Amino acid sequence: MTYEHSRRQHLTLLISRSVIEETVMRLAAQISEDYRGKELVAVGILKGAFIFMADLVRRLDIPLEVDFVTVSSYGSCTESSRTVTMRHDMTTDVNGKDVLVIEDIVDSGHTVCFVVEHLKARGAASVRMCALADKPSRREQDVRIDYLGFTVPDKFVVGYGLDFDNKFRYLPDIYALEGHATQR
Ligand code: IMP
Ligand code: MG
Repeated sequence: MTYEHSRRQHLTLLISRSVIEETVMRLAAQISEDYRGKELVAVGILKGAFIFMADLVRRLDIPLEVDFVTVSSYGSCTESSRTVTMRHDMTTDVNGKDVLVIEDIVDSGHTVCFVVEHLKARGAASVRMCALADKPSRREQDVRIDYLGFTVPDKFVVGYGLDFDNKFRYLPDIYALEGHATQR
């Protein structure tokens, strides 16, 4: 996509920053309650989860370790590839620990499935999932989202960490990118 194209793209506000903030507080309260007295490792999936995770962990009132994985499931198009590969693994030893995977959006479910299996193979005592957004209309893998922020329609959404072709991540609110309906 050229710069000229990106300038012409139309963004429609979907979720405002104040609604996001309330939702992050709700999720953090629930997670803090559920993990009280446990040894939690929060594993964010880069790059999309970076803003959500930064806000969420600062609202938790339990001790935790933070780590990240980078996986690739998306190229520079709006279609999810079915092959997920690990590009950068975490360094924390999760053996015997309770792990919470933090993801920006669950679409087909392939990315989250891959990361959850990876963490189980590393000997995590438990693996749960927290996602900012869920796009259930396009699901291909049966995934359980234990902590969910928003269910979004079948639109391509950007902002608050979510990108299109690495753009728009910095926006404080969440928008639908018009003219880019997701297709398979
Ligand atoms: P899945 O493997 O199909 O579930 O895809 C999940 C990944 O695709 C997420 O980590 C996002 O990075 C990306 N993704 C899916 N839908 C969107 C969207 O609407 N906006 C931005 N990224 C998306
Ligand atoms: Mg992502």
